[in-house]
Amino acid sequence: MKRFVFLILFLISSSGNLLPQTGFYENGVVSSANEIASQVGIDILKNGGNAIDAAVGTGFALAVVYPQAGNIGGGGFMVIHLSDGRNTSIDYREKAPLRAYREMYLDQQGDVIMNLSTLGNLASGVPGSVAGMLYALEKYGTKEKEEVLKYSFELAENGFHINRQLADNLNSYQKDFQNFSGTMEVFGGNFKEGDLLIQKDLAKTLKRIIDKGKDGFYGNETAALLVDEMINSNGIISYDDLAGYEAKERNVIEGTYRGYKIISMGPPSSGGISLVYLLNILENFDLNKNGYGSADNINIMTEAMRRVYADRSEFMGDADFVSVPFDILTNKNYAVKRMSDFKEGVAGSSRDVKHGDAYYRESDQTTHYSVADKYGNLVSVTTTLNDVFGNKVVVKGAGFFLNNEMDDFVSKPGAPNIYGLVGNEANSIQPGKRMLSSMTPAIIFKNDKPFLILGSPGGGRIITTVLQTLVNIIDFNMSLQEAVDAPRFHHQWLPDEIQIEKNYTDGNITDQLEKIGYSVRIINDFGRVDAVQFTEDGKMTGYSDRRGSGKAIGY
Ligand code: GLY
Repeated sequence: MKRFVFLILFLISSSGNLLPQTGFYENGVVSSANEIASQVGIDILKNGGNAIDAAVGTGFALAVVYPQAGNIGGGGFMVIHLSDGRNTSIDYREKAPLRAYREMYLDQQGDVIMNLSTLGNLASGVPGSVAGMLYALEKYGTKEKEEVLKYSFELAENGFHINRQLADNLNSYQKDFQNFSGTMEVFGGNFKEGDLLIQKDLAKTLKRIIDKGKDGFYGNETAALLVDEMINSNGIISYDDLAGYEAKERNVIEGTYRGYKIISMGPPSSGGISLVYLLNILENFDLNKNGYGSADNINIMTEAMRRVYADRSEFMGDADFVSVPFDILTNKNYAVKRMSDFKEGVAGSSRDVKHGDAYYRESDQTTHYSVADKYGNLVSVTTTLNDVFGNKVVVKGAGFFLNNEMDDFVSKPGAPNIYGLVGNEANSIQPGKRMLSSMTPAIIFKNDKPFLILGSPGGGRIITTVLQTLVNIIDFNMSLQEAVDAPRFHHQWLPDEIQIEKNYTDGNITDQLEKIGYSVRIINDFGRVDAVQFTEDGKMTGYSDRRGSGKAIGY
């Protein structure tokens, strides 16, 4: 008992308000959705790599061991803080193919054709992950690609034992897989935990990337296999699309919240702007006084979410194509003005704006990982195929899933996508344009020192998942584990309802919210945060959300 009390006192005194998540480390932490992938990152750090090397190694490993969302056939965003103090971000979001056009998912009556933007090759944007990860490695890494990618190659070539989550996911998508022979060759069958999954075609693709770099994916044999796949089943990605794909380095979005500094991803993600905008609103309210989970706080936060998601729908898209009013949306005065009609204890309404019949997927479509090294480099990456296993098509002979990211565009103004999100002209389909994302890879600083790296999957709920994790730590003094595991809620303007996880703290919360005029829908768990947090004395700890089956590893 005495030893136990001593341990608790030691942990509290050595780490501020932190509880033991993974332990505390001095050299590095990698937190991702899969233990094998996290270990790859740690091995790279142990061999002298920096956080960028480790993030890229982890990213390629996730493409092998977590094919639900880890990918080389999708896209993502990487936010980086370098040990010399610079901040940057790399955009490797998918692009609409050159032959894409605004009404491509509509029938002759102008109605959205079911499944066309989600299933099969017409749903796929031009993949960006390989270009983005190699760009990051070449510019900010210290290791050669041979060394960083050898882990993923070996995992594909020699196989790995699948976990229960992957076995279950593979089994539940067999019906969709049956439409695509390339997918059945690799992932057809009945799987169980512990099965050895060998992916020879994927290994060959990874070897081509190791040997030829970007050309090993966007040119040569991989490009030929991908274009053949398109020709065979109605897709439109061409050699020109592949040859023309480039990752883009962009300025980060910056904001502050109660003295903390936030950096995150700008357009084509809505994540960074929306997070800063939400925090700018919440800074004007004493959330701590009301307490975590109180109806008063849900009222305030919901009205903030309603306004931010309304602006997301109207103003946000690929800033290379449309003018996004960054400065206004992240301005603290604008946040105050937007809440000027808010009445405490009263539900607002989004009913003035029409929306279609939203339907939702509760599954994990995207994945986030956070990496820190002993030099002070921090990396926050969110990457996606969009839906689970993307468009469900494995490129025949190349072994990887393609994305269905085209569904993140607005197929028709007011028609909801798979997350129930609606949008407008700013996010309409145009050739070469990047579709709007909600991915919110973020890095937080306290007194200019690293404090937290975090992000999450969850479609339109990514932003509110990251927001609540931050608020739980900053306003409610929760430990990292408590903040990540605490039940969440979400509002996205349309549909006008509060979506609330079924194990939300207070059993009466639904009644309380309905009483003040809200419509409440109980939903399954959402978001899977993978985070790294720093103590005052510079040690690091990590945590992988209880909702997933990932792992944070440190050394
Ligand atoms: N595909 C999910 C997102 O990018 O928001």
